[in-house]
Amino acid sequence: MNANGRTSARAGTPGVLAGFGAELSSEAEAGALPRHQNSPRHVPMGLFAEQLSATPFMVPRAQNRRSWLYRVRPSTEQGDFWPVPHPGMSAWGSHVAPNLLGWKPRPLPMTPTDFIDGLITVALGGSAADQSGMAIHSFVTNAPMTRKALVSADGESLLIPDEGELQVRTEFGRFLIAPGDVLLLPRGVRFSVDPVGTTARRGWWVEAFGAGFELPNRGVIGANGLAESRHFVAPNAEYEDEEATWTIVHKYGGSLFAAEATHSPFNVVAWHGNAVPLVYDLARFCPVGSVSFDHPDPSIFTVLTAPTGLPGRNAVDFSLFPARWDAAKHTFRRPFYHRQAASEWTAILTGPTSNRVYSRGGSSLTPPMTPHGITPDALERELAGKDDEKPRFIGETAMWVQLESHFLLSVTDAWRDAPFRDQDFASVARGAKVRFAKPRAEADRSSLDTMPWFKP
Ligand code: FE2
Repeated sequence: MNANGRTSARAGTPGVLAGFGAELSSEAEAGALPRHQNSPRHVPMGLFAEQLSATPFMVPRAQNRRSWLYRVRPSTEQGDFWPVPHPGMSAWGSHVAPNLLGWKPRPLPMTPTDFIDGLITVALGGSAADQSGMAIHSFVTNAPMTRKALVSADGESLLIPDEGELQVRTEFGRFLIAPGDVLLLPRGVRFSVDPVGTTARRGWWVEAFGAGFELPNRGVIGANGLAESRHFVAPNAEYEDEEATWTIVHKYGGSLFAAEATHSPFNVVAWHGNAVPLVYDLARFCPVGSVSFDHPDPSIFTVLTAPTGLPGRNAVDFSLFPARWDAAKHTFRRPFYHRQAASEWTAILTGPTSNRVYSRGGSSLTPPMTPHGITPDALERELAGKDDEKPRFIGETAMWVQLESHFLLSVTDAWRDAPFRDQDFASVARGAKVRFAKPRAEADRSSLDTMPWFKP
């Protein structure tokens, strides 16, 4: 598949089904969608009407998300669920500690591994049971989910690949996604993930418990910029009328359960609503930034946010450090030394990969209030920089994303003890050379003027 095969490549094209939170509709057979009601006694073509409510009935209209699915068989045609043990999935993290942690890229599987087999829970905050919090999982896969579908009853999901192309089938239709895409799956939507081609694929699955994702408010930025609603692309309805044994794997309360269904869950002939899976190409993000001096906080790069109800204290802020002009004068251009109130988890989605944390596939976790900054070498290069007053185009070679969470994230045993964890990661920012020189005379203070370029 080339880049044009990606579903997100259709964004912005007139007539394409798109729009974050928009009321959309699609029918795979002309006339299958009821035009005037949601639940007529006789649905066209003998289909069954089924509502999927991704938010509680009574949430305010602006946050309310639901869709109506018109399907060959109702989803009730399945057996009871039974618990499915999974060696990599966890409902709870066990490791809550304030150290910086870093991981090199997770190795790709050498034996047949479908998307579910290849899951490892990385870290969690809050809980699915309380419907408040988030989880991060890693996935690797080199085999299709044959007659198997997965669904999260716990929260809304983001799938974020960093290696190879994936076909994601959903009840609403299918997507082709690649690194640089983010796929949003409303809570409760059944999906299956298959590698495109024969090599292995890898990425991240992020869940927001409770309120799902929203586009962030723009505030003083105004009506345009950052992620645009129209660039979130929905699939066209597509169905298979297959009577066969399917396994529905249901994530509930952090654990996996399975039930046998008599048919393919991808049997939706028509749908309408605003709880719809959507794909977004991160290259379409329009960043804003400093055009004079200093750095704004990284929240200016927020693509999607999952609120908790506490203003600004979000379960997940999903941010992108995009390719952009860096144009600040008289400014320490690299990330400043800091400690922040949120948990920060960072991953690199594109660019060169190697056996290092800071390469494609690598990731790191910065707990709240744990100091972090740049390496001593980077510090020396920054202070010695000769063209730092000139605009530079940065971020082209690698796409970094970050999740910020109001919750303290606990890391699972499986991920903390992973052989690809970089045990020396916390030490990389240590060793800054001290330059402090106390002024010896009042005359020396005249050199401390920090903004000579503001003078006429
Ligand atoms: Fe930070």
